[in-house]
Amino acid sequence: MDKKIAIFPGTFDPVHFGHIDVVKQATQIFDTVIWLIGENTTKKPMFSLDQRIKMLEITRKLMGFQNVEISSSNGLLARFAEKAETRFIVRSLRSSMDFEYEYQMTLVNRKIFPDLITIYIPARQDYIHISSSAVRELIRNGELISEYIPPSICDYIGTIYSK
Ligand code: PNS
Repeated sequence: MDKKIAIFPGTFDPVHFGHIDVVKQATQIFDTVIWLIGENTTKKPMFSLDQRIKMLEITRKLMGFQNVEISSSNGLLARFAEKAETRFIVRSLRSSMDFEYEYQMTLVNRKIFPDLITIYIPARQDYIHISSSAVRELIRNGELISEYIPPSICDYIGTIYSK
């Protein structure tokens, strides 16, 4: 049987426990998960692409994710999926508000690549209040972020800001 590959795309600026839990769940469904840093043209990331890739690499090692590949793209997600020869996209939902945005994105992606299937994984209740934007606000204001991201990522962020 063909290996089932899924893409979990996002900005991951920075990665947090909510994202990590979704990757963990996705790895239980798919043989391979491509953890993809995509470009959201409505956002100007706080962390560079290289820094965000590094954060995903630290997380993959920390979590012992064997079947997770890290990648990045500045093009269309649907075209990336086509090239990667997969039809599966994983996204997470924290609320009905997320659904509005996600569903619209799903429909646009499906217009580009009609075979695409998007699977929404509901966020664990403990993590529904976590967002990268909240973590960024805390970082900007020098507040603790250890409740939201793993210690090794906190340390890495610390090294960026101590420079
Ligand atoms: O974490 P985010 O910011 O919600 O992730 C959004 C992302 C990066 C998945 C989305 O913006 C995306 O797929 N960007 C690639 C460009 C694209 O395919 N746009 C069409 C979908 S509307």
